[in-house]
Amino acid sequence: MNEPRRVEHQQTDKGYVPVYTTAIVDQPAEYPADDHATWGTLYERQRALLVGRACDEFLQAQDAMGMAPDRIPRFDDLNEVLRATTGWTLVGVEGLLPELEFFDHLANRRFPVTWWIRRPDQIDYIAEPDLFHDLFGHVPLLMNPVFADYMEAYGKGGVKAHGIGPDALQHLTRLYWYTVEFGLINTPDGLRIYGAGIVSSKGESLYSLESDAPNRIGFDLERIMRTRYRIDTFQKTYFVIDSFEQLMNATAPDFTPIYARLDAQDAVPAGDVHVDDRVFHRGTGEGWADGGDV
Ligand code: PHE
Ligand code: FE
Repeated sequence: MNEPRRVEHQQTDKGYVPVYTTAIVDQPAEYPADDHATWGTLYERQRALLVGRACDEFLQAQDAMGMAPDRIPRFDDLNEVLRATTGWTLVGVEGLLPELEFFDHLANRRFPVTWWIRRPDQIDYIAEPDLFHDLFGHVPLLMNPVFADYMEAYGKGGVKAHGIGPDALQHLTRLYWYTVEFGLINTPDGLRIYGAGIVSSKGESLYSLESDAPNRIGFDLERIMRTRYRIDTFQKTYFVIDSFEQLMNATAPDFTPIYARLDAQDAVPAGDVHVDDRVFHRGTGEGWADGGDV
């Protein structure tokens, strides 16, 4: 039960990682006490850190779903709440899925959740998504009606991009990376985290908001789709949305002509800032890269 079956390796946005069986698997009826303890340790540490750092939608949804530190949540219990709220369903999987399978799940409002949790020696870092990243990081925002629609639209867009070709897919993957995984949101109280890759990481929860090192740039669809990203270290650039509605509206148009246009342009290195980027400073300050309205 501990070691999932590894089928092959694949270069993905998480690096060179194993791709598991694509089948949907049942969550085990029981987890060892150590696994519950790992969940509890991570849950308590991140919740303490995320109050005032993660967006309210995220924190409130975790509470509303009944996620708690005492034990690994049951997918069935979460599904009752999710189904009644936004119609999403969690399905258990062994780990990362091939892209098309993943898109197909999202397009049908199914979110694949890795059934196993990291070992105690992997508390601070694990290269591939586990139950903590998937459940703690991704699932809460599926309770938000607008974000829930965005994820479904992304899945449908993924099926389409897969049919267009590898360049379209790469452009779309960057959008997932800079929103679903590493997105920040501008609120009246200051910048907040909504990306699952950040909220499930202690180091990046602090770094993304409080370090002076990374860029924080206003959401710009084509800018994101051109921007390379780092898989081996904290991000060089975070993109900031003003609202989930903005994200939904900006991604509603047909991407086909956008992909065609992007094919003719060079990728932007992960850490670049351009003169017309809308730059956010640490905390609440906002200005433009050309020294405008800081
Ligand atoms: N509008 C996109 C397309 O036509 C689909 C999409 C929506 C992609 C939302 C990502 C997020 O391909
Ligand atoms: Fe993820």
